[in-house]
Amino acid sequence: TNTKNTSMLAYWKVFGKGVWYTIFISAISVIFGVIGGIIFALMRLSKSKVLHGIAVAYIEFIRGTPLMIQVMFVYFGIGMVVSIPALVSGIIAVAINSSAYVAEIFRSGINSIPVGQTEAARSLGLSQRETMQSVVLPQALKNIWPALGNEFVSLIKESSIVSIIGVSDLIYQLKVVQTDTYKGVAPIAVAMVLYFIMTFTLSKVLNHFEGKMKHEG
Ligand code: ARG
Repeated sequence: TNTKNTSMLAYWKVFGKGVWYTIFISAISVIFGVIGGIIFALMRLSKSKVLHGIAVAYIEFIRGTPLMIQVMFVYFGIGMVVSIPALVSGIIAVAINSSAYVAEIFRSGINSIPVGQTEAARSLGLSQRETMQSVVLPQALKNIWPALGNEFVSLIKESSIVSIIGVSDLIYQLKVVQTDTYKGVAPIAVAMVLYFIMTFTLSKVLNHFEGKMKHEG
């Protein structure tokens, strides 16, 4: 007799693991994505033709190919040389992907600061680096912050692709529940609601901080 409890509630641990992996992968990736994104944005804006060229090629190539194939390339490509866990490959691929998108967020944020600001700072004797660090970037960051929040929300959804290399994110876990319960739709519906709870909550939290930043002026 089949005494297995196939209620979705009985699988909360399986879904919970997926939720945790999805949040973990997205959070780590967005952190490295922002670090990489700043570097590539500054390279793209730099006067050096070589740095500019490398940054443009990187950003356009990453944005011009699917995240899915990047995940596969990192996992199987690096896997040919050294074996790395699927989770690490997944995070590397999502972070690389994010850095290209974040670079464009930073570039437009930096470009949105009027050149008069830079000219004024430079004529007061600040170096190019000091001008960027203490005049342009702090102001740009205010405009950039909401877009970075959106990027985090996007990664919650986009990171679902790492399930193809066997990382136990929420999509992978929903398939585990499907296999175990022989139920097709219920696990999908549960995962869908869980994704929405994650993105909705994150948006609310980010909006809250955004409001605070505005009040601090
Ligand atoms: N799904 C699209 C792709 O495969 C979009 C990826 C979006 N990435 C991001 N970091 N916002 O390329």
